[in-house]
Amino acid sequence: METQTPFLFLIPVLFSFYSSITYSMAANTIAVNQTIRDGQTIVSPQESFELGFFSPTTATRNRYLGIWYKRLATGTVAWVANRETPIANESGELTLRPDGVLVLRDSTTNTIVWSSLNPSTKTAQNPIAQLLDSGNLMVVDRDREGGNDDPEDYIWQSFDHPGNTFLSGSKFGRNLEKGVVTNITSWKTEDDPSQGEYSVYMDFNGFPQIYLSKSDVIQMRLGSWNGLRYTGMPSLTPNSIFTFEQVSNEREIYYIFEPINRSVTTKLMLDSEGNMVRLNWNNRTQGWFEFSTPAIDNCVRYALCGPHGSCAIEQSPPCGCLKGFTPKNQGEWDVSDWVSGCRREIPLDCGVGEGFRKYSSVKLPDTRNSWFDRNMTLDECRVKCKNECNCSAYSTLDIKDDIGCLLWYDELIDINSFRNNGQDIYIRMAAAELGTFSSCFF
Ligand SMILES: *[C@@H]1O[C@H](CO)[C@@H](O)[C@H](O)[C@H]1NC(C)=O
Ligand SMILES: *[C@@H]1O[C@H](CO)[C@@H](O)[C@H](O)[C@H]1NC(C)=O
Ligand SMILES: *[C@@H]1O[C@H](CO)[C@@H](O)[C@H](O)[C@H]1NC(C)=O
Ligand SMILES: *[C@@H]1O[C@H](CO)[C@@H](O)[C@H](O)[C@H]1NC(C)=O
Ligand SMILES: *[C@@H]1O[C@H](CO)[C@@H](O)[C@H](O)[C@H]1NC(C)=O
Ligand SMILES: *[C@@H]1O[C@H](CO)[C@@H](O)[C@H](O)[C@H]1NC(C)=O
Ligand SMILES: *[C@@H]1O[C@H](CO)[C@@H](O)[C@H](O)[C@H]1NC(C)=O
Repeated sequence: METQTPFLFLIPVLFSFYSSITYSMAANTIAVNQTIRDGQTIVSPQESFELGFFSPTTATRNRYLGIWYKRLATGTVAWVANRETPIANESGELTLRPDGVLVLRDSTTNTIVWSSLNPSTKTAQNPIAQLLDSGNLMVVDRDREGGNDDPEDYIWQSFDHPGNTFLSGSKFGRNLEKGVVTNITSWKTEDDPSQGEYSVYMDFNGFPQIYLSKSDVIQMRLGSWNGLRYTGMPSLTPNSIFTFEQVSNEREIYYIFEPINRSVTTKLMLDSEGNMVRLNWNNRTQGWFEFSTPAIDNCVRYALCGPHGSCAIEQSPPCGCLKGFTPKNQGEWDVSDWVSGCRREIPLDCGVGEGFRKYSSVKLPDTRNSWFDRNMTLDECRVKCKNECNCSAYSTLDIKDDIGCLLWYDELIDINSFRNNGQDIYIRMAAAELGTFSSCFF
């Protein structure tokens, strides 16, 4: 008896020690039927990110479920669940349902405020939600056979539904298998994370390219991927902060970036004024440093110079016509209204003498109605374009590997002339324009 007493005395101590370990081990997960209430949080394993309830600023008492950088002081919210449906009280409750759906309820009204959609037909056997150090909240099945760690084998993830912030390691683009298309959308104001006017997304009509729109009107075209960068972003070059690439295969097309040194925090953000900025955390000033913004100049405005116009920021006025073209409406051009663009000086007639003129150092035109092939050579590309009277221009698709073919079939819109990091395009011209009239008889 006497020997057992101290042992019994120790049991509650051991028990609470044990349960505190289990608690901290599970602190980045939400199990089925577990509830996270306002005031409670879960934290990623290395404590990079935290999930819980917050108000965006002190100007509002609205409560949102979100994910934020745990160790940074300001501007830390990376993702918001109930963007459009704030909770008025601190009465939010997040639970994971047995079918793998995360449900956010307002307990005062007992209404569902937000839930993670489940577009895939994947059925959950034994789901669990986990917050990763990348800032991704994932719902996965614990019973994945053979303990497979395929990162694509998930039920739902917050990375597929970004708000105004695009984090390193997440994919911006499209996944056909999962039916995911990412769309980065600005907040209305810094007090209000509901959808603002601006969005940045990849467009898949023709060769994929990236647009920035305001209320569905295109403002800026970052352009198509050329193997090295997006054609409209000459400053997107290898650097000491982050690596980047666009990955394309039958299943998915996406842009992704990663910091070169894991201790550097870098993110992309679309602010409420429609600026897509890269922000890097500065430990010394304890604030975000604006690493790059797309050049704010007239030439970034979509189609400023109209069809067959070319924009060059170092020129005044910035708009001109491509060689062989002349303003469609000189009166409008004279008062700096360039939108009607330029027409050919010598019309095309589909004659045998037609050929191509090379224009160098440009931002390739809008690819919305383009055709492409990743394997053709530039020579094959020229022949294909030449043989189709309605083909207006061609270029190499991938300038890194010097391969692939891109063809345009209509007016060429949103061309810029760049000092650096432009590329070549070959535009169809009438025989007389090229002075090749006689040569076609040989
Ligand atoms: C979760 O709750 C539901 C409804 O109360 C119950 O049927 C189910 O067994 C619970 N599942 C787990 C894993 O606790
Ligand atoms: C907030 O909660 C209190 C009780 O805690 C309740 O009386 C009040 O109606 C709630 N307000 C809203 C807007 O839900
Ligand atoms: C992106 O979201 C905005 C805001 O909701 C919407 O207007 C736009 O159509 C969306 N774009 C795409 C490609 O889904
Ligand atoms: C990453 O940055 C930290 C802090 O500046 C530095 O101590 C570390 O050596 C760097 N690591 C690499 C691999 O460059
Ligand atoms: C910045 O500070 C954090 C937290 O102290 C540290 O983990 C990180 O390595 C630092 N980063 C750099 C680049 O010095
Ligand atoms: C293009 O080339 C790649 C690799 O060289 C090959 O896998 C693919 O089948 C080719 N596609 C076509 C349409 O020929
Ligand atoms: C271009 O013309 C070819 C026939 O030469 C036709 O098959 C094709 O559909 C046309 N393409 C466009 C985009 O008009």
